[in-house]
Amino acid sequence: MVAQDTPFEWQWQLSCSGPEAYERYIVPAWMGRWAEALVAAGAVGAGDRVLDVACGTGVVARKAARLVGPKGRLTGVDFNEDMVRAAKRFADQEGLSGIEWHCGDVLGLPGDKPEYDVVLCQQGVQFFPDRPAALKAMRAALVPGGRLVLSCWRAVARIPLFAVLADVLEGYFGPAMRAGFQASSSLSDREDLRALLQEAGFNDIRVRLEIQAARHPDLLELLAGYLSVFPSGTAIAAMSETDRAAMFRSMAEGLRDFQDDDGLAVPMESHVATAMR
Ligand SMILES: C[S@@+](CC[C@H](N)C(=O)[O-])C[C@H]1O[C@@H](n2cnc3c(N)ncnc32)[C@H](O)[C@@H]1O
Repeated sequence: MVAQDTPFEWQWQLSCSGPEAYERYIVPAWMGRWAEALVAAGAVGAGDRVLDVACGTGVVARKAARLVGPKGRLTGVDFNEDMVRAAKRFADQEGLSGIEWHCGDVLGLPGDKPEYDVVLCQQGVQFFPDRPAALKAMRAALVPGGRLVLSCWRAVARIPLFAVLADVLEGYFGPAMRAGFQASSSLSDREDLRALLQEAGFNDIRVRLEIQAARHPDLLELLAGYLSVFPSGTAIAAMSETDRAAMFRSMAEGLRDFQDDDGLAVPMESHVATAMR
């Protein structure tokens, strides 16, 4: 239960915008641990040349960079300029200034010849407008025998955090607010994912269902930070304090079964696909 006197306005003020909020809230709560699993699934090791597609703030690239060492190579690419700029900043802050960052579409991947041992893509493929062409471009970036690892969320209904937030936001702002969650889960079928990889020419395709808990010690802080990343942030900022408090209270109620002594602990389900060129 969330106490009626919770300082919602203060909680909302904690949030910041775009890549900073993504890095501050979403990465520690879930994306960071999913990134570790992705990199492990790719068996990324010393000397590997690795491409992180749709790199966002670079959480996957940073984890991989630590494993490839000085003889390896790390490239991150994303079409969102703010994300790429932030990715470079976060990497530099962690002493990982050797990562190459490119702003661009997946269909214009850096390099005109196969040059990567591993291509990684965490929660990106579902957003690509031309998925078959994107998968072919990712395959073309791999050397023969190179490996691909990608992840795509399962259905919204299987991810309580998404389901509760989508329901509550739709109730306040209308059906358009559900669209972002639906887009996140728009490649949730295991066989659709496999077919996409097969059509792109990949071999040894394996699709695993992975389940991990998203965790955060302060649910309201997480919700404020998380929602500020997306278009919902603008709408929420324009609400009265009373309405905003009531809305966050509804979200917290919806997630009541997913809290323990350490705060939020809510399962998330994703497919993680591995394949070889
Ligand atoms: C959910 S985020 C995942 C970011 C990152 N992989 C991570 O694990 O945190 C999806 C990312 O895909 C990027 N993206 C979407 N469509 C893209 C495209 N056509 N080409 C390149 N990047 C794209 C977005 O800018 C966004 O950063």
